[in-house]
Amino acid sequence: MLSRQDNELICRVGPGTPMGDVMRRYWHPICTSAQLPQPDAPPLRVRLLGEDYVAFRDTEGKVGVLEELCMHRGASLALGRVEEGGIRCLYHGWKFSVAGVVLETPNHSDPKYAARMKAPAFPVHEEGGLVWVYVGPKELQPAFSRFAFMDAQPDHRVVLRINVACSYLQLVEGGEDSSHVGVLHTNMARPGWKDGEFEPNPDVVNPAALASNDLEPGLKIEDTAFGFQYVALRKTSTEGVKNARVVPFILPYGRIIPAPAFSFTVLEVPDDDTHTSTYIIVYGKAPVTEDKIIELLGLDDKRYYDRKTCAFSASWADAFGQNRERMKENWTGLRGVEVEDAAIALSQGPLFDRSKEHLVPADQAVMRVRRTLLEAVKRVAAGDAPLGVGRDLCVVSACDAQLREGDSWQDLIPAHRQVPLA
Ligand code: FES
Ligand SMILES: [Fe+2]
Repeated sequence: MLSRQDNELICRVGPGTPMGDVMRRYWHPICTSAQLPQPDAPPLRVRLLGEDYVAFRDTEGKVGVLEELCMHRGASLALGRVEEGGIRCLYHGWKFSVAGVVLETPNHSDPKYAARMKAPAFPVHEEGGLVWVYVGPKELQPAFSRFAFMDAQPDHRVVLRINVACSYLQLVEGGEDSSHVGVLHTNMARPGWKDGEFEPNPDVVNPAALASNDLEPGLKIEDTAFGFQYVALRKTSTEGVKNARVVPFILPYGRIIPAPAFSFTVLEVPDDDTHTSTYIIVYGKAPVTEDKIIELLGLDDKRYYDRKTCAFSASWADAFGQNRERMKENWTGLRGVEVEDAAIALSQGPLFDRSKEHLVPADQAVMRVRRTLLEAVKRVAAGDAPLGVGRDLCVVSACDAQLREGDSWQDLIPAHRQVPLA
């Protein structure tokens, strides 16, 4: 359990909050590149850490992120015209570049006025199919952290965004919780469950395809320069050999989940205290299509997921689409990995009170997430940088492997230990 006070401390991310200060030290995805598909595409109204922004792609293809409300008299720039190298406010026609330069002020023709002013604009970096932004203190802007998925061939990678109406921490904790995989994702993890037999799932793209039937994995955890890594060890049918799934927690909300031939980098970016944009980046050594991933995640039902707005809208109105008739065949009656994960996180409420829970050893990685976040809050309050800021994250990965008794699990991904702890 976590005290109410500590729960609030790590869940609230708005401006001026301790966790908000931690989050504002990192770069964050603010939308996918596909959401701004071409130069002068319609602008996007985006929310990050409890604040509103507008993102737009100018005539040259460069992306800008500005405060949403126009600096003149506060009309939303998300209603504006994107044209001729900038975004123009509909109200009085003030026009701004991606860097916040005031290009025109039609109702005040004095050029000196425009030259003196600058619209609040934020540093932007577009890479890996995502638009990233830094909204923290200017003097503390860190180097951009690259991930391994950024080096994947574009046809070997799928980038998705899913907007879920609950706290980021519920989704992060689900992702760092190995013991739920063999239960919540029973259909994918243990396809033979109906006959009481274990048949491994042959789908090499499925991150819930477990190599073992063991529902009580033993966890081991170790701090790293980017957060921590942990291994879930499951019994196998071979004496002296365990199945080992190594998953990193990348501050402040990232993880990588191994699938047999692909990996899933997942970033749970808080829009605000009770809304999260989940970015899932799948990549591997073979081509993969968006349709395949959408289907695997269970997002191929237009009633619950809109590919254009990225809204995940399953709710209690129809029990998240749960089909009790189908539960003889489908363990949850829900549709696909992400629908199961998101429905569970939503079922905990918009912001779960962790003072009421009852934890067991299989929840150790979840406990470590909280500890790592609380430590980050302390570091930032003491004037230090939180872990991982400005680090190159290309060496961070995940794996699912067989481990012989006596072998070290940390040797499965030696690179995780090569970056010294700060
Ligand atoms: S409010 Fe935007 S130009 Fe006046
Ligand atoms: Fe899950």
